[in-house]
Amino acid sequence: MTTGARIAVIGAGHVGLPTAAALARFGHTVVCAERDDERFGALVAGKVPIVEEGLGELLAEVVAKGGLRFVRSAAEAARGAQFVFLCVATPERDDGSVDLSFVEGVATEIARELEPGAIVVNKSTVPVGTALDVERITAATVVSNPEFLREGSAVRDSLRPDRVVVGADDRGAARRVGELFSESGAPLIVTDTVTAETIKYASNAFLATKLSFVNVLAGLCESVGADVRDVVLGLGYDRRIGFDFLRPGPGWGGSCLPKDTAALLHIAEDAGYDFALLRAVISANEDARERVVRKVEDVAGGDLSGRTVGVWGLTFKAGTDDRRISPATAVARRLAELGATVRAYDPTVPAGPAPADLEGVVVCADAYDACRGASAVVLLTEWDEFRSLDFTKVADVMASPALVDARNLLDPVALRRAGFSYAGIGRP
Ligand code: UGA
Repeated sequence: MTTGARIAVIGAGHVGLPTAAALARFGHTVVCAERDDERFGALVAGKVPIVEEGLGELLAEVVAKGGLRFVRSAAEAARGAQFVFLCVATPERDDGSVDLSFVEGVATEIARELEPGAIVVNKSTVPVGTALDVERITAATVVSNPEFLREGSAVRDSLRPDRVVVGADDRGAARRVGELFSESGAPLIVTDTVTAETIKYASNAFLATKLSFVNVLAGLCESVGADVRDVVLGLGYDRRIGFDFLRPGPGWGGSCLPKDTAALLHIAEDAGYDFALLRAVISANEDARERVVRKVEDVAGGDLSGRTVGVWGLTFKAGTDDRRISPATAVARRLAELGATVRAYDPTVPAGPAPADLEGVVVCADAYDACRGASAVVLLTEWDEFRSLDFTKVADVMASPALVDARNLLDPVALRRAGFSYAGIGRP
């Protein structure tokens, strides 16, 4: 079977929504469950509750064709479905382990509704071995189908994934789930359950390792006077290394890489395995953030107490409104802790009273307003609009024109010409 399956997707979040839309575009009939009233209301009114390029258009298309509809409960979605995809949150607990209460709650809720032969597909990122727990709760065959989409390019990644991984001890069931994605043209990797679950963590841990490597390398470049951008160019042409995921920055964040690396460390510890390399990768990430803070102090001329610092960008990367575990908000809060008055601007955060994660930060209406009276401004998220600012105007509103470009987004020569003292990452 390649098209025309009856599919339930539980959870209309960053993973569930693009997944449901892509499965509908592949020709299946999809019912997506969302229990949050506000999010559900937005979806049935044809609104997209998250910032995600192309998602609005894709949803409108598949809903209009009758390929996708939304319901409130997981039980309702699961009724009559041949495949039930679990796309619910698996938050991190304080000790780095994974909170499985949403997965287990949904598994319990759908257990009574499943048709004989229905397959439960686990897309949520879960500790190795969880599929077996879900199998126990639902008494159904469970296939692990880890997700590799990125926020900001979720539609493209869902419609054209690099690969589809399906794992189950019943390989026939795994293959049937894999075939649901055959329209995507992606290579299919069929494994056992534990291996599929491990692939997900290994993938995010490897990406985090690449990023920590380039951030540490940027530090070395500063020490020896090399330019990290050219170093990466020289590395990337080697096909074994590649260019991707080698842009230095203020550290990696988001709802996945930090949570999944912490979880993998926890999983390794539980299994009696010392994953020292991964510990170093995580600790290098904390250093990357702190180095940006030091740079702000340097360009501002030292102690930040009583000074104003401008912050450009608050989301964990451009193209999303997600600020979960954002290096940008972490740096902004740290600057405030050091006594600075922090004025921040991000295109996805409305000016006005600061939300809880930005307590103590003044949220401004535009990039110029964020720099008013500032001794330094730090660019933390690579939003395109920061490239085309009028830097003479920026310099005019600042107390002293100094800029830390934590994404190497801007042209240092143009900035120096506009009177700025400029510090990038890993650039002489
Ligand atoms: C990540 C993975 O890339 C996806 O494959 C995976 O499916 C997803 O987690 C998940 O587990 O659900 P995402 O959280 O959307 O996706 O974010 P990334 O694009 O991976 O970016 C992570 C962080 O690395 C961001 O803070 C970003 O700014 C930073 N980054 C990324 C860099 O600093 N430099 C780069 O070259 C790339």
